[in-house]
Amino acid sequence: MQIISYLVYLVSSVLFIFGIKKLSSPKTARQGNALASIGMLLAIIVTLFDQHVLTYQYIIIGLVVGGLIGTLMATKVQMTGMPQMVGVLNGFGGGASTLVALSEYYRIINTGGLFTVDTLITIVLSILIGSVTFTGSFIAFGKLQGFVTGKVVKYPGQNAINVLLILAIIAGGVMIVMYPLNTDFLLAIVGISLVLGVLVVLPIGGADMPVAVSLLNSYSGIAASATGFVLSNNMLIIAGALVGASGIILTLIMCRGMNRSLMNVLLGGWEDAGATTGTGGSEVKGQVKSVDPEEAAMIFDSAQNVVIVPGYGMAVAQAQHAVRDLTNALEAKNINVRFAIHPVAGRMPGHMNVLLAEAQVSYDKLFALEDINDDFNNVDVAFIVGANDVVNPAARHDQSSPIYGMPILNVDYAKTVIMNKRSMNVGYAGISNELFFYPNTLMYFGDAKDAITKLVNEIKEL
Ligand code: TAP
Repeated sequence: MQIISYLVYLVSSVLFIFGIKKLSSPKTARQGNALASIGMLLAIIVTLFDQHVLTYQYIIIGLVVGGLIGTLMATKVQMTGMPQMVGVLNGFGGGASTLVALSEYYRIINTGGLFTVDTLITIVLSILIGSVTFTGSFIAFGKLQGFVTGKVVKYPGQNAINVLLILAIIAGGVMIVMYPLNTDFLLAIVGISLVLGVLVVLPIGGADMPVAVSLLNSYSGIAASATGFVLSNNMLIIAGALVGASGIILTLIMCRGMNRSLMNVLLGGWEDAGATTGTGGSEVKGQVKSVDPEEAAMIFDSAQNVVIVPGYGMAVAQAQHAVRDLTNALEAKNINVRFAIHPVAGRMPGHMNVLLAEAQVSYDKLFALEDINDDFNNVDVAFIVGANDVVNPAARHDQSSPIYGMPILNVDYAKTVIMNKRSMNVGYAGISNELFFYPNTLMYFGDAKDAITKLVNEIKEL
């Protein structure tokens, strides 16, 4: 049986790896998800058969209750609420690792077993990382949901307090290795780690939470991997390591897309991030030209090459279907339509791709920044739908701007820029956008869904 379970674990691990590989393209992402799910199912089944399960009663109750809650959450959550949901799920993952490590510790004590040093170290690591992930993820959820202040929280001695807590945990770990049967040390580590989770996530600004959530996702994987060592379960070690590694890679990709260091995010870098007004960087002034649906439709009608740049506002307005209708209306007039997708457009990786896929926009129309940025000189109309920071030219030249150095889409090189948003308000970075005032920019004000629906009607009438 042991050999069969090892073999199934191996198959599951391979399915996980291929699953993750396939997630890297929208074309194969569903397939990747399915592969990884099959891997997980196999691993669960073989674990249930292989281990010395005393009673299936609690497992079945857990499966039913957890399955119901999970299904409800996944079907009810809005696309814009996805980062919160991922945050909560990471928290549960961390909490589960802590509970499993704790129960293994008490099992060994109650059965009079002997602790080895490596078991104790992995138990402490699993509890430390799991507990930090648990409370940290719930603070992240609270910030994203507006239950906890989204502001950057700073207080005197912040870093010193964190360092002291970490030293206390290390001291507790040493004491456990010396006195493994004294449960107080382990419980103290649980308590301090839970507090540490709150204190490390609290300072991070609400708008930086997606990066923090991605990092916590990585932590939940590392905690699971540590728990795998506690239980001597290879599957858990591998799956946890995969989550840990992919989470950290994603975090770094997000930071690179924003031209920020991870430290800058973790230490509460952008004080103003997420604000609705503000400047940051050089103040921008000038004349703004706006168009109504009819005028905008005429400009589109005389174009040959159109590039649509979606951003967070498209997600908020749920305008992806209207955007698809616009694409169809333009293509019916033999106008070439492509999409330019910035790596950090929206609020989570792949945000725009997912929305456009949901609206059945064909993948081959979507171009990554590096594949389309040199072509904006040949574009007649760059149509920006609820994007702001990712097209702000200040990133190229304004050294005082918080987004200086961030790669942006070169929409301003197009002949005409039509920018759809509701007002002159700022985006995520809390800075005004000089593009609004460029001579080739026309503002098309309105909620993206309404405004684009009106535009499509006008285009069809021409
Ligand atoms: P933002 O710069 O955040 O701008 C979004 C704009 O959408 C706002 O200025 C807003 O202007 C407009 N908007 C909101 N609701 C709208 C509606 N119903 N209809 C039309 N427009 C609406 O978005 P972006 O350009 O996508 O940039 C993303 C930002 O998020 C970047 O700064 C990035 O670094 C950051 N970020 C991204 C991620 C990932 S992984 N994607 C993670 C963390 C942070 P009005 O209020 O005037 O309408």
